[in-house]
Amino acid sequence: MEKFTRFASGVLAALLAACSDPAPAAPDATVVDRPAPVDAAPDLTVPDMTPPRAPLPAVVGLPALRDEDPDPRVVQVSITAAPGVATWRAGRETRVLAYNGVIPGPLLHARVGDTVRVRFRNELEEYTTVHWHGLRISDLMDGSPAIQEPVRPGGEFTYEFVVPDAGTFWYHSHVSTEQQIDRGLYGAIVVHEAEPPAVDRERLYVLDDVRLDSNGQIGPTLTSGPDVGRGRLGNVLLTNGQTARLTATAPRNGVERWRLLNAANARSMRVRVDGARWKVVGTDGGLLPEPYEPVEIVIAPGQRFDLEVRMEDGEAPAAQLVAMVPVAVGSAVEDRDFILAEVTFEGEVEPRPAWVAPSVTLPSTSPMGPLARNWALSGGVVDGGVEFTINGRAGVGHGSHDPRAEPVDRVAQGTPVRITLRSNVSPEHPFHLHGQFFQIVSPAARAAEEPGLKDTVLVRGNEAVTVLTWYENPGRWMFHCHIAEHAERGMMGEVVVIPRSE
Ligand code: C2O
Ligand code: CU
Repeated sequence: MEKFTRFASGVLAALLAACSDPAPAAPDATVVDRPAPVDAAPDLTVPDMTPPRAPLPAVVGLPALRDEDPDPRVVQVSITAAPGVATWRAGRETRVLAYNGVIPGPLLHARVGDTVRVRFRNELEEYTTVHWHGLRISDLMDGSPAIQEPVRPGGEFTYEFVVPDAGTFWYHSHVSTEQQIDRGLYGAIVVHEAEPPAVDRERLYVLDDVRLDSNGQIGPTLTSGPDVGRGRLGNVLLTNGQTARLTATAPRNGVERWRLLNAANARSMRVRVDGARWKVVGTDGGLLPEPYEPVEIVIAPGQRFDLEVRMEDGEAPAAQLVAMVPVAVGSAVEDRDFILAEVTFEGEVEPRPAWVAPSVTLPSTSPMGPLARNWALSGGVVDGGVEFTINGRAGVGHGSHDPRAEPVDRVAQGTPVRITLRSNVSPEHPFHLHGQFFQIVSPAARAAEEPGLKDTVLVRGNEAVTVLTWYENPGRWMFHCHIAEHAERGMMGEVVVIPRSE
């Protein structure tokens, strides 16, 4: 129980994050002026001339996984999924599932181009896999239960991949997601740029909600019509696994990078920052070519936004991360402000120059003759239960994904394809494609409001959104609604991207 509250303080988390990187190792020296014994195999060891690298920037918010490999380009970590308890309601122990005993799971961070090796152990009483949401890695390492035999209780699996893109990503269970993610099996990934933009501090805020019953427990899932139809909304908001407002201090005029991620089953989070000047500088697929200054942002389940936050706003005493959440007031529904996190100003620093991002070029959104696809997101009642479909077909749930299910599409690697997602049912569907990025190309207003590379796009009821992907990563890729209840009830499918060489 202590475990879940131990990391409440951002300061402690910062210390942990800062301590997690081993001291840079000295390059190996190889002795060359000694004749090799005649029968011995030649020693092909090449001295490693790469200079030891600076430690990764600290990310305040979650404890970081310990890097077990001394090689500065390899990050090896151990993650164990196991049942645990959290104390979200005074005097109540909520039965949860957690990675390494904490919710969210610890931060996995690396630098772009690093090799990441995760020694995963399943101590749950059920099967599971780990999916690396947004990482464009091999499908064999993607945690898709259609490809990877799920890890049995007591079993182990080593995930290994090179992280190809810098940005804010996350990891989560990909089996019975509506209950495994809901109960706590999610964590954050930060892949740092080779030369990250200079800021005074980086903070990570992982948003979630859970529904606790009067005993403080998370009930069974997929049991009520509204929970399936809308996806299950919680009655408690969690920020980095905490119910209380997170607090920290920072000097006035400081510049921070805030990384936001929504891990909720179904709740899109409308957020804004008060008391500071802020811009969106990055999204699912990394930094944007141009930052933009919205009034608020909507973070759909699965999505990420990186903000630049300048601690300067007249007389405000603190910068606050505020969520606008609909609550029932009598018979009406009103949006109420919830302050999730507060950074109080203390002291002052010289203002930094304007944000200078590494130059970023996005793939073209107007390629010649792109293929067009229409995917209708629908659903209805079948045999007394709610079923969701894509183009009239229900995919089977994560828990029992049928590896022989026919893919919805086959495309050659590197082919630009416009996919129009039309929502015919339910208020919204945050649509996620594994292993690729895409850009919103229409409606024009959406494309302008939400620039950058995405892996998840919010499609609202009776809306059609067109995205363009270049299918750059070969393999078998799942796509699904990130409302876990919708995915588990059929709103998922697979696309096959045929490698260039075939
Ligand atoms: Cu974060 Cu298949 O999803
Ligand atoms: Cu959906």
